[in-house]
Formats: sequence, structure tokens, C-alpha cells
Amino acid sequence: MDGVSVDEGNTHFASPSSGLPFPFSLFDLRGRTVLVAGASRGIGATLAEGLSAAGGDVIGCGRTACEQISSQVFDYRVCDLTDGGAFQALCADIASSRKNIDAFVFSAGVTYPSQSALQNMDDFSRTISTNLLAAYSCTLSALQWMSGPASIVFITSVNSALGFPGNPGYAAAKGGLRQLAKALAVDLGDMGIRVNCLAPGYVKTAMTAESYADSTRRRQRIQRTILGRWGEPVDLVGAILFLVSDASLYVTGQDIFVDGGWTAKGL
Ligand SMILES: NC(=O)c1ccc[n+]([C@@H]2O[C@H](COP(=O)([O-])OP(=O)(O)OC[C@H]3O[C@@H](n4cnc5c(N)ncnc54)[C@H](OP(=O)(O)O)[C@@H]3O)[C@@H](O)[C@H]2O)c1
Repeated sequence: MDGVSVDEGNTHFASPSSGLPFPFSLFDLRGRTVLVAGASRGIGATLAEGLSAAGGDVIGCGRTACEQISSQVFDYRVCDLTDGGAFQALCADIASSRKNIDAFVFSAGVTYPSQSALQNMDDFSRTISTNLLAAYSCTLSALQWMSGPASIVFITSVNSALGFPGNPGYAAAKGGLRQLAKALAVDLGDMGIRVNCLAPGYVKTAMTAESYADSTRRRQRIQRTILGRWGEPVDLVGAILFLVSDASLYVTGQDIFVDGGWTAKGL
């Protein structure tokens, strides 16, 4: 398919051609370097696997080893994302062998739900530190090696838009991340860098293992969805391929809720 021409304005968003037939070429990530922060397990690991299956040269990172997925599938590095210097060095190392970073996905997250009425300041602050502050500092580092067309995706949550009990730090961080994406979309648009959010509903991972194991909470969460089940990490892969690839070249500052209809459901 020939490149789509853009008559005037920002030519970063002209679609490059690829060897695959339309429309599959839109999702082709061959030749693209994709960095996934928070890929040792769960959603981040599965997103990294999916991006790699679409042809991306994927590098994942997390504080602990990635045991869920074979090292053949994507390159993996140990890195604490709250250590700005360590992540900066990781980006520089990636750029030294791959020239630049075409997409950055921030999937790292922690949660410290409170057993008492209000979350204590320490847990609030630890949550903000990883889920929001590290997201921004890592984005600043990755941006040093990014030029348009490129894509940044933050993994947020239904908590970015809705109030939930017992975890204000998580809701504040995810809501902040949602707004950060919109603000960065404005600041980076001229450079051809798009910034969007992928907001999962309840997905079966280590983070939600406790509520999934509790039959009452498990059922309550199913009843809140339209589609009548919990999500699996693989349910998010279609949306990340869309947001990272040329399929979304005219999409920025948006949220895609992959939540089984949680945020759409009334009664
Ligand atoms: N599961 C859900 O229902 C759900 C719903 C909405 C949103 N989310 C969001 O989706 C993302 C992934 O969650 P998950 O369910 O897959 O949880 P998870 O299984 O607990 O995975 C969290 C990931 O974040 C990484 N991480 C946390 N702190 C880090 C740090 N300081 N440095 C580097 N990596 C760090 C972890 O790696 P290490 O521990 O190895 O560092 C791990 O890879 C999170 O942002 C979460 O808030 C999850």
C-alpha cells in the first residue's frame, strides 16, 4: 500500500508503507523498537508478548526477573522504574544498539488497598511515586530517544475515571496519569508523538489475585461488567496493537477502556 499523503500540516502522521497487504500493514510493527515498562508478569508481560508477535523489537523491564515469558519472545532487563538514573541508562543502552525508541508503554503499577477507612499517607505516597511520578520521569527519559512518528501508551484503569473505596492513592495516580496523557498529547503533537491511555477493567493477574480468590468479590466484579466475566491480560492485546501501530496514527489524547463494559453499565 502506498503511503497515505498528508496535504498540509504535520507530516509525521503520514502512514509509511509496509510489505503486508492493507489493512494488516496498519498493525505491522516490524522494524519498530517498543519499550514496555513493567513487563515482568501480568498485563505488561502479555502486552510485550503481543507486541513482539506483531513483529516489534520489544524490550521489557521490571524490578524482578520475567519468569512468565521465554527470553526468546522479547528482550528483558531488570530495572527499578522509581530509580530515574537506572531507567535513563536503560534507554541510552537500548538507543545505542537500536538507534531510537518508536513506542513506550508504561504498564508498571502498584496498589496498596487500605483495610481501614482511609489509606495512610505512606501507602498513598508509595502509590503515587510508582504509578504517576515514575510514569512521567520514565517518559522524559524515553523521549530523549523518540522522534515522530512515535507512540506513548499509559496503562491506566477504570479507577482513572471512577471512584472506588479504600484506595485513593491508586485512583489519584491513575486519574493523574489520564490527564498527564492528554497534556503530553498537546505538548508532543507537533513532534509527531501520540500519547494515549489503555484503561483495563478487572483483569486476572497477581495484582487482583486476592479479590479473584474471594468468591463474593469475584462475583460482584463480574456483575459490574456488561460482558459478564473478568478480563484476561490477552484481552488487552488488540488495543495495545492499535495504539502502538499506524492503525491509530490520527488518535491522540484518548482513553480506550477495555473493561467488559464496566464504565458503560448503568443498572
Ligand atoms: N489487573 C487489573 O485488574 C488491572 C486493572 C486496571 C489497571 N491495571 C494496571 O495494569 C498494570 C499492570 O498490572 P498487573 O495487573 O499486570 O499487575 P502485576 O501483575 O502486579 O504487575 C505489575 C507490574 O509492574 C511492575 N512494577 C511495579 N513497580 C515497579 C517498579 N518500581 N519498577 C519496575 N517495575 C515495576 C512489576 O514488576 P516487578 O514487581 O518485577 O518490579 C510488574 O511487572 C498496572 O499499571 C495496573 O495498575 C491492572
